[in-house]
Amino acid sequence: MTQDSLIQRAREAALKAYAPYSRFSVGAAIESVDGDIAVGANMENACYRLGICAEISALTAARQAFGLDKVKRIAVAGGHVGPDGTLAGAAPVTPCGGCRQAIYEAADLSGLDIEVISSNGDGTEAIATTIRTLLPHGFGPASLADAGD
Ligand code: THU
Repeated sequence: MTQDSLIQRAREAALKAYAPYSRFSVGAAIESVDGDIAVGANMENACYRLGICAEISALTAARQAFGLDKVKRIAVAGGHVGPDGTLAGAAPVTPCGGCRQAIYEAADLSGLDIEVISSNGDGTEAIATTIRTLLPHGFGPASLADAGD
């Protein structure tokens, strides 16, 4: 799948966000090493702190669809739903710190430096980087090597 197509999947997923409090809809689309796709969107809650991000939602779906160890690329897009019913917004949405940590876990499992594509809501601007660039010196499963029995 092209980078643009994966971004489009993330923009579409954002339309199914449940974000009545922030009014900020985020979608994420994950591609596996075999070309399978899993998507997710943010889901908020009246108890604000219980809201979950689009990336976590998509990682959960990816776990069910093909496994975290097969995650190759993730596209994220966020903004508001415009009058024409599509996602709109000027600024690319990069994963929050917690989501970087969750993506890092998948990267540790696969041994791949997962590509992270951050798109704006309009789908006109994207930043393509990798999880190890977004989270240098991260703490992951391998960091627990010195744990006791
Ligand atoms: N959000 C995401 O879903 N992913 C991010 O990477 C940034 C923030 C969501 C959380 C919350 O529902 C809304 O965007 C505003 O912060």
